[in-house]
Amino acid sequence: MTGAASGIGRATALLLAREGARVLVCDVDEAAGRATVDAIAAAGGEARFARTDVTREAEVAAAVRTALDAFGRLDCAVNNAGIAGATGPLHETDTEGFVRTLAVNLTGVFVCMKHEIPVMARQGGGSIVNMASGAGIIAVPGMAAYCASKHGVLGLTKTAAVENARTGVRVNAVCPGTTDTPMLRVARERGPELEKMILASLPGGRLGRAEEIAEAAVWLCSDRASFVSGEAMLVDGSTVSR
Ligand code: NAI
Repeated sequence: MTGAASGIGRATALLLAREGARVLVCDVDEAAGRATVDAIAAAGGEARFARTDVTREAEVAAAVRTALDAFGRLDCAVNNAGIAGATGPLHETDTEGFVRTLAVNLTGVFVCMKHEIPVMARQGGGSIVNMASGAGIIAVPGMAAYCASKHGVLGLTKTAAVENARTGVRVNAVCPGTTDTPMLRVARERGPELEKMILASLPGGRLGRAEEIAEAAVWLCSDRASFVSGEAMLVDGSTVSR
């Protein structure tokens, strides 16, 4: 479970543990990651922390090995780590920022799946959930890099799903709408334009809660979703439908 120190990842790790999963909390933020582990333990669950930067393939490979050493199996993986990244009109977007956004949000998901799929396939099956976004389906002016990265996550998800249709490894994506997490607070602080755009995009007049996104991710992880693969599940209070 990557990006499990904060926001949607933290809520998903907590819910997975509550449903009986033993969780490897992976994040670059060690203090907050360990706090997630403590919260899981306090609720009677089992978790460990592995400092993992998804832009470093060796660290991702090590995290998968740690999960196997600690728990013996890898039944599900939630590839959730992400950043808002470079913002501004496309033609003003800093190229380095664009590349960095893709490195975390897109290549990070690719590298995670690359190391998770063989392990799950050897076990006879598993479930992978990639955290995409409504921005993986529609345009978000001012966030070209983020939008491109999340469209890319859906491409990776569908391809991996079809490639693994006979290995028992299901691969799906959750596409959250605007959700009240630390990421959103950072994006809102970047300027009134973005804040205005965010508020105007919410037909229900409210933000999503991290726990509401976690419910979808945990369901997709579970055997209750046994015939669901290649799905991009919107959890957005109808934002993309409007
Ligand atoms: P957040 O900022 O609260 O949490 C993101 C976590 O990812 C943090 O703990 C951070 O330390 C970690 N992280 C960042 N870079 C990393 C790296 N290189 N390696 C490992 N961990 C890293 O953000 P939030 O909102 O919980 O986002 C989680 C996912 O949901 C992201 O993929 C985001 O794009 C997606 N999402 C969020 C939405 C929102 O409105 N908050 C809407 C749609 C999608």
